[in-house]
Amino acid sequence: MRLNGKVAMVTGAGAGIGEAIARGFAREGAVVAVLDIDRARGEQVAGEINNSGGSALFVDADVASTADVQAAVDRIVASFGPPDILVNNAAIQMIGKDARAHEVSEEVWDRTIDVNLKGVWRCMKAVIPHMLGRGGSIINIASPTGMLGVAPDYAAYSTSKGGVFGLTRVSASGYARDGIRINAIVPGTTATPLIEEMLKDQSVRKALEDKSPMGRLGTPEDLVGIALFLASDESSYCTGGVYMADGGMTAV
Ligand SMILES: NC(=O)c1ccc[n+]([C@@H]2O[C@H](COP(=O)([O-])OP(=O)(O)OC[C@H]3O[C@@H](n4cnc5c(N)ncnc54)[C@H](O)[C@@H]3O)[C@@H](O)[C@H]2O)c1
Repeated sequence: MRLNGKVAMVTGAGAGIGEAIARGFAREGAVVAVLDIDRARGEQVAGEINNSGGSALFVDADVASTADVQAAVDRIVASFGPPDILVNNAAIQMIGKDARAHEVSEEVWDRTIDVNLKGVWRCMKAVIPHMLGRGGSIINIASPTGMLGVAPDYAAYSTSKGGVFGLTRVSASGYARDGIRINAIVPGTTATPLIEEMLKDQSVRKALEDKSPMGRLGTPEDLVGIALFLASDESSYCTGGVYMADGGMTAV
């Protein structure tokens, strides 16, 4: 198994892409901390992993709270030992509230940046001290909206994701000699609870499928292979990279 004996912390692992990655890591032998603010979903995912022969622990935490993140990491270290892998996946997209720069409210701007960008930094700040001297792999889930102006009505979300690329690259160089590899994954439009309201409109769904070079939306499982590669020693010389798993969305 590719992650045998590794301890992985996956944020936002109660649903969508994070859930698929947590399940995929557990299948490959990792002990997985399923971190989420949604207790019901997180407990269900961790419970199902444990019932199917894997090893997981639900950790109730909001990545927008420094106290929660520190308590979560302390609990993981006490339960399993120091994390070898951190997946910064938790994020919000405030559909109907996010907007163009002059229209977005300060409240929406602050909350989006606090969860999506500062949340990534908070988790790195709490986990990296446990990786120093041992090495590790950090995977930040970004978005095409952080690279391209493809979501004009999402100034806060797009900016938060742009920041994730910056934090990934500066930290990749900052920790390269510590054996801590830090990479970003870019999902394309993926059918998850994050955008399920949007996808209920069949014409919107069809337009998004048509825009995809592959002619379909991504599934959470489409992200698992690249996350496994980056988490495992197979990617031993990869750091500071941006890995597209977007069906070709950013190639056109
Ligand atoms: N779905 C897409 O089309 C898409 C496209 C590009 C990038 N992404 C990125 O992929 C990642 C996963 O997205 P998804 O579509 O699976 O989302 P999702 O909404 O389906 O799942 C996100 C999970 O994160 C949890 N979460 C939200 N805020 C949290 C917080 N403050 N603290 C802890 N947990 C929190 C939620 O409870 C949920 O379980 C995100 O970083 C998102 O920006 C998604």
